[in-house]
Amino acid sequence: MAKKFYITTPIYYPSASPHLGHAYCSVMADILRRSKALLGYDTYFLTGLDEHGEKIEKNAEAKGITPQQFVDEIATKFLNLWKLLGISNDDFIRTTDKRHVDTIQKVFTRYLNNDDVYLSRYKGWYCVHEETFWTETQVGKEHLCPECGRSVEEKEEEAYFFSCQKYLPSLLKIFEENPSFVTPVGRKQEMINNFIKPGLNDLCVTRTTFSWGIPVKENKKHVVYVWLDALFNYITALGYLQEDDTKFQKYWMDEESEIVHLVGADITRFHTIYWPMFLEALGLRKPSRIFVHGLMMMKDGKMSKSKGNVIYAEPLVEHYGLDAVRYYLASEIIFGQDGQFTPELFIERLNADLANNLGNLLNRTVSMIGKYFDGMAPTHEKDFGEEDLAINQKIQETITEYEKDINSLKVTEAYHAVMELVSMGNKYIEQKAPWALAKDANKKDELASTMAHLVEVLHVSSVLLSPILLEKSAQIDEQLGIGEDYRNFSSLKKKLPSTLVHKGNPLFMRLENEKEVEWLKSLMAMPKEKAAA
Ligand code: MSP
Repeated sequence: MAKKFYITTPIYYPSASPHLGHAYCSVMADILRRSKALLGYDTYFLTGLDEHGEKIEKNAEAKGITPQQFVDEIATKFLNLWKLLGISNDDFIRTTDKRHVDTIQKVFTRYLNNDDVYLSRYKGWYCVHEETFWTETQVGKEHLCPECGRSVEEKEEEAYFFSCQKYLPSLLKIFEENPSFVTPVGRKQEMINNFIKPGLNDLCVTRTTFSWGIPVKENKKHVVYVWLDALFNYITALGYLQEDDTKFQKYWMDEESEIVHLVGADITRFHTIYWPMFLEALGLRKPSRIFVHGLMMMKDGKMSKSKGNVIYAEPLVEHYGLDAVRYYLASEIIFGQDGQFTPELFIERLNADLANNLGNLLNRTVSMIGKYFDGMAPTHEKDFGEEDLAINQKIQETITEYEKDINSLKVTEAYHAVMELVSMGNKYIEQKAPWALAKDANKKDELASTMAHLVEVLHVSSVLLSPILLEKSAQIDEQLGIGEDYRNFSSLKKKLPSTLVHKGNPLFMRLENEKEVEWLKSLMAMPKEKAAA
């Protein structure tokens, strides 16, 4: 039976139009999902929206509509964007879904019955924007939110608390026994030093000062705190505590299923500290890994609507094509590290890797097979000299490294390895100089073998790049005349038949540097309403 892989993105706040930063996380989750599926895993991919909370209530009020109308409008924008970006999610959970609301209420009842939550009073400094209470020391003399820098309000209210102390030992045990539970590993130490060592307080898990949330059935003036509500999306979507929980049993409870939550660095604390405790209290298994990806930054810091330095995915996809944008996101920002969007690097990456490296290799190969073999690609019969042996070896190493890297979530590294193979293909052409071989009648076999090697390089690269290049990958094999039967991981080691190649359009157009950089800059300077339209 195929091994299982369950991947999630955070559920996004529907408080604004999604920008390239949100797109980054969903595209990376999608690439991982498709890469694991390519490796033969039985995969399931979830994304969705985090629709409750005071911020949404206030935003809706300002627009003169109900919170439900407000979130419905924005949900459509997210769904459209995911479609545009080729996001292959199996489900789209919204925390206003009845299935989610029902489960959260059942969970809260269980917590109450088990004394995991208790009623008390809360006094603290509250940031509406981050939906988070902070302590006196955290907000400092200026009373500013340590996360977003906005002013916080002092609030006191009756609230339910989740008893963290009870579950702290089990959390520490997970940290200890499973070194890759939080990846990159530095993030785990950060959590221990910043939040656990100073003493972990019980977590306030309800609110009484606004109403846009899931009501606590036993005490209706309380709504469930947005983070308790939100984190559970990962299992409510699978059917936890619902009539049909087949997916929950299959992708969550089965110890053989690998569960990966992809999260931005800003929400690591909730996923690595509270989420495992919430699960422990219900006797449920924990995710295999919380993978903390970096943020996409702009020159002046984090991309955010309030700073007005946002770039959106839509105009990029329209102008450069879906595959180019997906490729840029996966290759330019090392998965797990912060990255910076600059127009110069964007254009350079597309030109260097896609047009000059990959596109060129295909173009040269198909042209030469046309010229020297009337379009019939020769089969790989013999090797001639060390260049052939080296390229054979590189093909095998790339396949092995790709599998290893994807399985350890080193997405950028896996794809860099494939592009290295492509570069080697281009160098191989220079080394073998097919134009010289073609002039010597005795070198016909060597020329044929050279073409066969190039076809192999391109075919292997095309299949391995298929999780990123949703359109162009298949076009590579089409130009090479290679059929669907060969377009899977397990066929990569099979000998390719002789095929009829046909030259198509260039895969990627070479971009005019200055002109494109100017255009991107004008896009970044555009008022946000227009850019996001
Ligand atoms: N609703 C919470 C998450 C609850 S999950 C149980 C939330 N939402 S969010 O919309 O503010 O951010 C969600 C995620 O979007 C971040 O964790 C991150 O993965 C992604 N990003 C938002 N801005 C980003 C960048 N500038 N760069 C990269 N990713 C970014 O927090």
